[in-house]
This record gives sequence, structure tokens and C-alpha cells, in this order.
Amino acid sequence: MNNLIVTGGAGFIGSNFVHYVVDYHPEVKHITVLDKLTYAGNKENLADLPTDRVELVVGDICDAGLVDKLISNADAVVHYAAESHNDNSLIDPLPFIQTNIIGTYTLIQACAKYDVRFHHISTDEVYGDLPLRKDLPGHGEGVGEKFTPDSQYKPSSPYSSSKASSDLLVRAWVRSFGLRATISNCSNNYGPYQHIEKFIPRQITNILSGIRPKLYGSGENVRDWIHTNDHSSAVWKILIQGKIGETYLIGADGEKSNKEVLELILKLMGKPIDFYDHVKDRRGHDLRYAIDSSKLRNDLGWTPEFTNFEQGLKHTIDWYANNEKWWKDKKSMVEANYAKNGQ
Ligand code: NAD
Ligand code: DAU
Repeated sequence: MNNLIVTGGAGFIGSNFVHYVVDYHPEVKHITVLDKLTYAGNKENLADLPTDRVELVVGDICDAGLVDKLISNADAVVHYAAESHNDNSLIDPLPFIQTNIIGTYTLIQACAKYDVRFHHISTDEVYGDLPLRKDLPGHGEGVGEKFTPDSQYKPSSPYSSSKASSDLLVRAWVRSFGLRATISNCSNNYGPYQHIEKFIPRQITNILSGIRPKLYGSGENVRDWIHTNDHSSAVWKILIQGKIGETYLIGADGEKSNKEVLELILKLMGKPIDFYDHVKDRRGHDLRYAIDSSKLRNDLGWTPEFTNFEQGLKHTIDWYANNEKWWKDKKSMVEANYAKNGQ
């Protein structure tokens, strides 16, 4: 592969994917990162990468001229760029509609025109939420207890509905315009370079800053955690071996309540188990996500490697502790914005 375009490659998951490709896939000669560097993008995330293999183009995926020019020279596009934070989408939805829907449309138009392979990064949130296990008969593994590629689309927030819209556009372009595309819907990622507005890094950097962690509502909500390195290896598998037109769900069986995750962070950081505040809940807060990734495992032979959550969390805590310069300047602004909202 001579030229791979990674949109949103200066954000959390995109930059981890660029590191993964540079480290494990020397057959990719050149990676072009197309990133607008919004508040969530940071060119420092790519700072230690070889400049002869990785090039950052600062630009907007909604800029049709720029996108056309870049894609005319590409072998494949992996599309991570998005407005990604639910809480922000509940305050100001428009950037989500613009980037997640119009941006995806702009990219698939160009990929269809030049017959360029496209992989669309999406989220499990397009499927809405599931009941808590304690409220299900048998608390077991029956039908309907995890998301599958056949689950109904039922997004709850402006963010998840904009991602659902983008998935539907990709499917339509595959069918009507012969776009060579695959889609993946992944569960909650954690690891280094995640913006400190998100749950895990917010609580770690709160503790490092002497601020009490903040738990929405009762903390019963469940997320299905996957290390971002496992997301990267799954995306690579799908890019290379995935069947055109198919949707693959990516998950590593990491269901945990927010309260459990917070208590583990407190334990690992040597704080009392009750050193946190309950704050106002998120509007429309999804209860539980859980991924059935058997299609990806059975059809493409993918398995996650970083499944020891406590160890992964410990490394993540160490990364934020050792990289204070990366997040310190943003901390007071992020917390001031949450405080305005009672969170
Ligand atoms: P992020 O917010 O950390 O990064 C998004 C990146 O996209 C940033 O670098 C930003 O500058 C860039 N960007 C935003 N608007 C742009 C535009 N108009 N043009 C070009 N670049 C733009 O997000 P993330 O958490 O790394 O998520 C990346 C992708 O993965 C998203 O598509 C998201 O929906 C999806 N996803 C995230 C998770 C998760 O747990 N974070 C899970 C599943 C799927
Ligand atoms: O499931 C995949 C999704 O995971 C991605 O599509 C999104 O881009 C990504 O942001 C993430 O969405 P969530 O809304 O699940 O992640 P967030 O980190 O915002 O919150 C995780 C959980 O923690 C959620 O139940 C809300 C809760 N929370 C969040 C924050 C910021 C708190 O209790 N306290 C907080 O301070």
C-alpha cells in the first residue's frame, strides 16, 4: 500500500492507529493524516513518528476540493474524523451534523469517484442501549443481550444519531455507487492520548490535580471497555480481509459499570473508595452497551490481546501521570465547562 489516508489521525483513536500501522505494517509506505485539529486534535500525538512516512495535512473533511485532491492519490481511507463527545453534542449539535454527516458524505463521494477502498469507523452507540444485566431474565448470554450487526439502529444523542446517519450513507453508497467500503462499530476505547473530557482520563487527571472525580447519576451505567490497541488491530484486519459491504462489531468483552471503573481508578491511585462526587446525570444517558464480536472473531480470526483491564488502566494512569504537559493546560477549561452544566 503506497498511500493510506487516515482522517482524524491526530485524535485519540486515530493517532493510536497511525502508531500501530507505523510499528507493525512496514508495507504501508506513506500515511497521510487529514485532520482539522479541532480542540480534540493534537499534532503532539504524532510527534514521535517518522516524517518520511507520516504527513499531517491540516484540513477539514467537509472541504470537497481538498478531499478530492488527496483521495485521487490514495489507495485506501480509514475514516476516524468526527465530533466524538456525547456531552458536547447535547449542548451544541451542529458541528456533529456538519462533520459526522457532511464530512462522511464528502469523503465517500470522492472514494466512489476514484474507486478508493474506504473503511468507516463507527460506534456501538448507533444501537441505542440495553437493559442492565440484573434486569434481564437469567442475567445470561441470550439473544438481545448484546449488540449484533443485526441489532436495530436506535441512537439516543445528537452524537450517536449523526454517526448512525453516516453509517447509512456508507451503506447506500456501497449499494448504489459501488463504493468499496466496510464499517466497524466499536465499544468504548481507553488508553493514552484520550482527551481529558472523556470519563477515564477526566477522573485520572482530576485525581492528579487534587479534584474529586465526578460520577454521573448513580454510576450504574455499563460500558464495554476495549484497549485502543485492540481497536487498531481489528480495524487493520477489516481493512485488509473484510468483505465489502459488511459491518463488523468490535469489542473485547469488557463490560463494567462506571462506578466499578471509578473505584478501580481510585484503588490504583491510592485514594479512598468514596473519594468522588455524584453529579447531574447526562440527558438521555444510555444504560448499557455490550458487543457481540463473534462475526469479526469467526470470519476474520481477530482476537483482542490487551484484555487485562486492571493492567491496561494502570498503564493509562501512568501515561497521564508522566505526560502532564500534554493535558495540564486544558484542565481548567474542561472542568469550567462541566461545572457550567452541573457536572
Ligand atoms: P477524538 O475526538 O479524540 O478525535 C477526533 C479527531 O477528528 C480529532 O483529531 C479532530 O481534530 C478531528 N476532526 C474533527 N472534525 C474534523 C473535521 N471536520 N475534519 C477533519 N478532522 C476533524 O475522537 P476519538 O475518540 O478518537 O474517536 C475517533 C472515531 O472513533 C470517531 O469516529 C468516533 O465516533 C469513533 N469511536 C470512538 C470510540 C471511543 O470510545 N472514543 C468508540 C467507538 C468509535
Ligand atoms: O461506545 C462508544 C462511545 O464511547 C464512542 O462512540 C464515543 O465517541 C465515546 O466518547 C464514548 O462515549 P461515552 O458517552 O460512553 O463516553 P464518555 O467517556 O463520555 O462516558 C463514559 C461513561 O461515563 C458514560 O456512561 C458517562 C459517564 N461519565 C462521563 C464523564 C465525562 C461520568 O460518569 N462522569 C464523567 O465525568
